[in-house]
Amino acid sequence: MPDYRKFFSDDVPSFMRSPVREIFRKVDLSAIYSFAGGYPSAETFPLDRMQDLAGAVARKYGAKALQYGATQGVPELREAVAARCGVPVGNVQITTSSQQGIDVCARVFLNPGDVVLTTSPTYLGAIQSFRSYRAEIVSGELPEGKKAKFFYVIPDFCNPSGETMSLAEREALVERARREDFLIVEDSPYRELRYSGEPLPTIYSLAPERTLHLGSFSKIFAPGLRLGWMLGPEELLEQIYVCKQALDLCPPVFDQYVAAEFLSSGELDRNLASTVALYRRKRDLMLSLLEKYMPEGVSWTHPDGGLFLFVTLPEGVDTVAMYDEALSAGVAYVAGSFFFTDGSHRNTMRLNFSFMDEGRMEPGIELLSRIISSAIWKKSH
Ligand SMILES: Cc1ncc(COP(=O)(O)O)c(C=O)c1O
Repeated sequence: MPDYRKFFSDDVPSFMRSPVREIFRKVDLSAIYSFAGGYPSAETFPLDRMQDLAGAVARKYGAKALQYGATQGVPELREAVAARCGVPVGNVQITTSSQQGIDVCARVFLNPGDVVLTTSPTYLGAIQSFRSYRAEIVSGELPEGKKAKFFYVIPDFCNPSGETMSLAEREALVERARREDFLIVEDSPYRELRYSGEPLPTIYSLAPERTLHLGSFSKIFAPGLRLGWMLGPEELLEQIYVCKQALDLCPPVFDQYVAAEFLSSGELDRNLASTVALYRRKRDLMLSLLEKYMPEGVSWTHPDGGLFLFVTLPEGVDTVAMYDEALSAGVAYVAGSFFFTDGSHRNTMRLNFSFMDEGRMEPGIELLSRIISSAIWKKSH
């Protein structure tokens, strides 16, 4: 057997496994109460419409629908996204979903040792990507003598915290970006899943000259399509486009036509309205169950949208250590410390409220509360 390690690039030791995806590998999540994944509810998928949509695409576009397409995305989808976002089509690049959008930004902008600013906590998939390019991920002040390449941020209903940046915070970030001369990568897959409060301007709308805005069809249509979009200045998109040629030549063509049909017929908006109504009910249910069952000393965020809320347990209770016990009792969550680049905040956890059926939520939260109560009791005895 050759020693395979000598073949690996210098980047490989910086690759990091997603603890969330490792959980999925180990257990059948449908067999337990899982608040772990970030999956949309299958109820939101327009399955009954897919046969018609696929047939309509085959009839309308013929062989074109199965051919290679333009790297920027098929014109029909680019135009539909441009109209929806109110930007010229030249500012739209279709992506093979927003995870690719994140990675392509990292690939285009980062050298080893470059600084990426972000919030703490932040999205694990972004940490994975930035680490793999050996970037230094910083939340807060810059290290002495260093400049940041970009600030990665999820301003609407952040994964994992569920929190939303205020307008003042958005403006302050833009002002800092202009003063310190860095770009902003605005990752916004949850923006359209708002259940309360008023929408705030995107950072892209506040600073179109230095922002790349990432949108996704994953949470408003179906993640299995692997489709999203990127808005940005044409000059930056030009480099992104060249980079994407080497990644996948073009986003999935058939799926793009399906998305274009779904979007331009108005069906996406109708489906989204019922998705929002469902998730609003689920969010409210989870909040009321946490209120009912969680022991004293436990607090949580109250998100206006998205798929997650973030729970903080008393200091010293360790959700990483508690995890195996929870899993064998039949309930899963994601330890919050995975979303902090320094692994701190071991007394936190992320809970997803979109995936689980409403009828299973109460026994699931009750079980989780019992495990948390027992961990709090153990710590104080
Ligand atoms: C903040 C954030 N960005 C990006 C993604 C990736 O989504 P996709 O690649 O399906 O668009 C996720 C998925 O959960 C996410 O939470």
